[in-house]
Parts: sequence; structure tokens; C-alpha cells
Amino acid sequence: MTADGLPPIANTAACRHPPQRCGHRPGPQSGPACRHFGTCGGCASQDIEYNLQAEAKKNRFKSLVRPLGIDQVEFTPAPDPWYYRNKIELSFAAPLLSIRHGNEFAIGFNDPLTLPSPSRGEGWGEGGNPLILGFKHKGKWFKVFDLEECRIFDERLGAVVGAIRSWAKQENLSPYNPKRQQGFLRYLVIRRAMNGSLLIMPVTTSSQQLPKNSLLATLNNILLCAPPIPSAPPPLCHSAALPHRLSLLWGIQDLASDTAQTQRFEIISGEPYLFEELLGRRFRYSINSFFQTNPRAFELLLKDIVDQASLIFPNSQTLKLSNAQAVLDLYCGVGTIGITLAERFGVNVLGIESAESSIEDARFNVGHGDTETRGYGDEKTEISASPRRRVAVSFLCARVEKVLPEMLQKEEFREGLVILDPPRSGLHPKVLKVLEEKPPKNLFYVSCNPPLTAQKELPRLSQIYKIVCAKAYDFFPQTEHFEAFFTLERKEKERVNVERPEP
Ligand SMILES: C[S@@+](CC[C@H](N)C(=O)[O-])C[C@H]1O[C@@H](n2cnc3c(N)ncnc32)[C@H](O)[C@@H]1O
Repeated sequence: MTADGLPPIANTAACRHPPQRCGHRPGPQSGPACRHFGTCGGCASQDIEYNLQAEAKKNRFKSLVRPLGIDQVEFTPAPDPWYYRNKIELSFAAPLLSIRHGNEFAIGFNDPLTLPSPSRGEGWGEGGNPLILGFKHKGKWFKVFDLEECRIFDERLGAVVGAIRSWAKQENLSPYNPKRQQGFLRYLVIRRAMNGSLLIMPVTTSSQQLPKNSLLATLNNILLCAPPIPSAPPPLCHSAALPHRLSLLWGIQDLASDTAQTQRFEIISGEPYLFEELLGRRFRYSINSFFQTNPRAFELLLKDIVDQASLIFPNSQTLKLSNAQAVLDLYCGVGTIGITLAERFGVNVLGIESAESSIEDARFNVGHGDTETRGYGDEKTEISASPRRRVAVSFLCARVEKVLPEMLQKEEFREGLVILDPPRSGLHPKVLKVLEEKPPKNLFYVSCNPPLTAQKELPRLSQIYKIVCAKAYDFFPQTEHFEAFFTLERKEKERVNVERPEP
């Protein structure tokens, strides 16, 4: 065992501090960094040196956009290839058992409900019925492994998850059985801000009360009162700093669907949201709201969005800007892109988003629809960089495919800028159709699924729009995924009839 009580890890994995600080990077010869590599489906590329991962993604992006006639692409590597994520969702489960059915063996869930309940203090873990808390096994939705670390999330994760697992066993809480739809503990959602604040939410069924006080005491003990690791490395190398704030929620989810999203939650301690700073401006996001999972990488993309928008709104810092052009921020989340553009360029913005909690955060983030103030409760701050004029920034909770036809009737959006940032499933067919029929002058497409965008959507859109620039960003190091940003301009003198590609 190592000094901090963890089993030793082969080769470079022995260093448990962020490689960007220690310089301990796994290379092609050194093997994967995380002890769960191969079991966990999350970081399939971590045995490949980061530079090679970035090179491979750049080449992949080039080959995706070449058929669109794009030869020049920019690729921005991740600012930090490790410990970059701000959100994870773990599952509680009982282990799988081999169950005899007649003459055949079947694999099934160990069913905590048919086994005698362990006596208090004995715990599910000791009576031959252990409780597992971790990620799903690679390729096996039904099998969960005990998580001890995650090299792309937070260094404190192992301690936090270990403490919650022990607490659950101590309290004799049963894991949920998805097949029988019975049991108590379902998921553990953890979000963190880059300043170290944590938002932790166990998600359970409503079948019993959560032992809240003991959970809060356990977490406070781990996060605030834990003695320093005996072989503590020098301060600069030791980023497992005390959290600036711990918020603890209890989420309740009785639906059969396999989702940790819950509309019902109780606040046990703290507040149900976090703040993150992007380009020097703070944004609030709640437990159920979307926020880019790699904020430092997103900031680089946001800066490029601002640069590209400055080509559209060049004179916007003057007081004379007319309202002839406005921004339609589609799939706007908590308003990060739209609010940034409103404040930089003094341009009116309408954000559209289907998740109510994101819309609430977006409205909070914009303050009073006036770029001269920020809405941070008591902490209203003047924004010196913003133009001294009132700008209308508003948010609508709606599905984009429903409201876009009406929005694109409006001259200010048709002659202004439309931003698309859809989920991985891409654009709804109705959205694509209306973008063809009523094309806005400027279209920015932020894509977390570049293969789908480049192969299915841009071939259609490029009939109507010229693709002006194509950039990619590594938001997801150690995985094969990346983000892309395309800017498009309506082709003014070309035909209006749409040539649809062969299905
Ligand atoms: C990739 S996120 C982009 C968020 C935001 N632009 C940002 O950068 O933070 C996609 C967002 O679209 C929302 N969404 C998904 N389907 C939608 C739909 N049909 N209409 C409106 N919003 C939708 C999701 O809730 C999510 O917030």
C-alpha cells in the first residue's frame, strides 16, 4: 500500500498529482495512468501520449471537412489534458451474480431485496452483499465497478466516493435494482467549479429517508477535516485543496428510466448551483443545467466566437449601433455565448433552450436584461468593458424546432447572427429545413459531434451557405471526442431552390 492507503499503481500511475504540475505524463511507453483503464469505458486513449492524441484528432477533423472543400483547419489542443472535467455521474449497484435457472446459468443482478437485511453496523458490504459505487463497465450497461479515481475529473474523487460508499454500507442502504425497479440508492452526481467548490447529489428513490446528517458529517470530515497526507508533496504540486464551498443535495427519481436528471431535490447544505468564470465573467449553473464539461477549453472556443462575431458587429462599441441586427442563440444553455456577445458588442440577444433550469440560470446570469449590471444577488458589479447602453437580452424556454420558423421571420435575426449549439444528436430535421428556407445572413455552428455535423448536416447547409472557417478544439482529452466550430455565411446571389442530396 502507498502512504495514503491506496494500492500501488504500475509505472507513471504512481504519481497521483496533476501531470501539468508534476510533469508526470503517461507516454506511449509508460502505459495508462488510471488504474481503471480498460475496465472503464471513459478514457480509451489514455495510453497514448497527449501530443499524438491531439495530432490524430486534427487529422480526423481534416478528413471530415475535406469533402466540404475545406483544406485549412485550425486545431486547438486542450489547455489541460488531465483533471479537466467538471461533472460525473456514478451508479450505485449490487454486484452481478450467476443465478441458476433450471439447467442453465444466467447472469443477473444480486438482488438485495431477496437477501436478509444485514444488521446495523455490519453493512451490505460485509454480509456477502456488497454495495458498489462507480462507473459502468465498458460496453456493459448492467455492470458497475467500484471507482477509486478518475484522472479526468478531480483528485479528491477517490476519497469522496470511498467515504460515500462506506457511509452507505454503514447506514445499511440498499442499492437500486433497475430490473425490479426497487431499492434506494441510484446515482451519485458530482459537479465541481474550477475554484474547487463541489456540488454533490445522491439520487435515490422516494422509498425511504436519506440519513442526511451522517452524510453531511462524512463529507465535511473528508473534505475539510481530513489530516494531510503523510507524504504530502510540495504545495505547488498538491492541488487537492480544500473546497471553497460544499453543497449537498438529495435528488429523488422514481422513474424507471436510466437517468440521473431529477427535477425534485432537497437542499441539505449550501446552494443548488455553482459559479464558473469564462473570459473573466461569472456564470451560474444549477445541478440540472447544462454547462460545458471542460470550461478551460470552452473559454478558448468562446474567445474565437467573440473574434468571429467582431467581423459581423465591427462598430458595436459605439453608442450608435442600431437594432437592425440581433443574435439568436439557439440551444443556449445558461446563456454563456449570448450574454458574452451582448456585453461585448452591445447587441440584442434572444436565447432559446428547452431545459427550464438552464433558462432560470440564464435569466439570473443576465441580471436585469441590462448589460450594465450583473445579476449576482447582492454582488451587482458594473461591467466596465460593456457599452453604456441598454441591451435587450432575453431567454425563451422552448424547443428550437418549434419556434425557429417564427423567429426567422424577424428581420433582425435574418440579417444578424444565428448560433447553433445542439446536443450530440444534432439538428432536428425541421431546424435544418427552416435554415434552408429562411437562411440567416450569419450562422455559427458549435458542434460536439463533428462527424455528424460534417457528414450529414453541412453538406446540406453548404448549398445555401458558404463555410468560412472550420476550427476544432480538444474538449475531451483521453477520449476520441472533440468539439468543432464552423462559421457560415448566406450565399447572397445563389439559387434559392434547395438541392437535396440523395438519401
Ligand atoms: C451542447 S448544449 C449547449 C449549451 C450552451 N450553448 C453552452 O455552450 O453552454 C445543448 C443544449 O441544448 C438544449 N436542448 C436540447 N434539445 C433542445 C431542443 N430541442 N430545443 C432547445 N434546446 C435543446 C440542452 O438542454 C442543452 O442545454
